[in-house]
Amino acid sequence: MQEMTVGSIEADRIQQLVGSISGLPALPAIALHLLEAAEDPNTSASDLATLISADPALATRLLRLANSAYYGFPRKIATVNLAVVVLGFDTVRDLCLSVLVTDCFFNETGELPFQMEQFWKHSLATAICARMVYKLSDASHSGDGFIAGLLHDVGKLFLAKYFPKEYTMVMGKVQNDGMPLLEAERMVFSATHPVAGAWLLDEWNLPVWLVESTRTHHQEVADEPSSKLAMAVTFSDLLVRKARIEGGPGVPTELSPELMSTLQLKKNVYGEPDYDAYLDKLQRELRRADDLFGTFQKLDGKK
Ligand SMILES: [Fe+2]
Ligand SMILES: [Fe+2]
Repeated sequence: MQEMTVGSIEADRIQQLVGSISGLPALPAIALHLLEAAEDPNTSASDLATLISADPALATRLLRLANSAYYGFPRKIATVNLAVVVLGFDTVRDLCLSVLVTDCFFNETGELPFQMEQFWKHSLATAICARMVYKLSDASHSGDGFIAGLLHDVGKLFLAKYFPKEYTMVMGKVQNDGMPLLEAERMVFSATHPVAGAWLLDEWNLPVWLVESTRTHHQEVADEPSSKLAMAVTFSDLLVRKARIEGGPGVPTELSPELMSTLQLKKNVYGEPDYDAYLDKLQRELRRADDLFGTFQKLDGKK
């Protein structure tokens, strides 16, 4: 008989919970096509542009984001083709996926036990940070850090959206009793948000590296070593919280020596990561991205 790991027991439990609800959100098929196309070395700029242009609403919003001051192009980017050429495959893919995921999940107006806007900011800030950290750690391609950061806590949103009463109980245990978040989630759901998020991303047929980085972003859940990408997300979650961009309850995971060496983190005199240096870099990135946050919020008529 195959050995049951903590992760697989929790995944079974999520499956059970999902059985009790109807109408899981679906990620549009174009999201998967975009990921595949951007990873395929045979895809040309015009192939990617054709794919995006097939969804005019997506194309329009991509252009609005591409023209935000964040990217700082002096001239207007008027066509999707030009956006791909100027911004590059990875950035265009990241922007399109962010739009699609936002539509699918982050536009929730229903009752949630935590503030949606703050959660969204935390997710976008972690995306920007994870891209930066992953790049600094010499990763072969940097774009993936963004999506992994954006979606790392999607399980929290998933549990809170479908089980608001239960998630309110989780938050009470964290905020009033000082219980660690994952412990509180296990007590109430018999499952945790990293596993719930990974389950959902797997259900959406998203790539394994993304499912795994979500599942292992709090390392104590992992029953196997985290990938470098997951470590970049773990560190980014911590940095973003240090920058006071909280995203719901919980405290960040402690950094292991293995994480520090895999990510080749710069250390201070105490042998800790040089937080000041990283926070400085992050603040600069976030200031640049301020305009991007605003553009995202306005995309669907939200203020
Ligand atoms: Fe998390
Ligand atoms: Fe987080």
